[in-house]
Amino acid sequence: MIRHLLAATALLACATGAFAQSDPIAERQQLMKSLSQSARAPGAMLKGEAPFELSAVQATLKTFADVGKKAPTLFPAGSNVGHDTAAMPKVWTDKADFDAKWAKFESEATAAQASIKDEASFKANFPGVARACGGCHENYRAKKN
Ligand code: HEC
Repeated sequence: MIRHLLAATALLACATGAFAQSDPIAERQQLMKSLSQSARAPGAMLKGEAPFELSAVQATLKTFADVGKKAPTLFPAGSNVGHDTAAMPKVWTDKADFDAKWAKFESEATAAQASIKDEASFKANFPGVARACGGCHENYRAKKN
């Protein structure tokens, strides 16, 4: 019984390890979904559909900065096809600009963590950070029909 359990655990560890290494497309799409998810609460606050909550905004900005740092590593050469990727060829032909957009996203999210202290500074600074989403998608993400 215990041996079976150990074997199963080892298998699982192998499978998840291989998944993380060999599937940057699935991993980056997952990461992107986490961006949308974490942008939801501040989005509702901006529209006045939810009360302002500084800690939630800060958590979102931290997720943005973390993803901004990690994302450029998830577009290795050869990951331009498969898995229904919507990444456009420009990601690889214009890699320096693409990576610079991520770096800017990360630094703006980090800067906003310091500058957003209350509802007024949130309303003044958050939309600028969130604009990076559309700014990058416009150039690097194919529209789904
Ligand atoms: C520097 C470029 C860049 C930035 C910044 C960026 N994205 Fe993306 N995003 C992409 C690319 C490229 C894809 C396509 C990935 C793929 O399919 O391989 C994508 C895909 C997505 C997807 C679809 C994921 C899926 O399920 O396939 C969502 C949702 C998304 N982004 C949300 C966001 C949000 C929200 C932000 C801002 C908070 C953001 N993105 C910022 C480049 C960017």
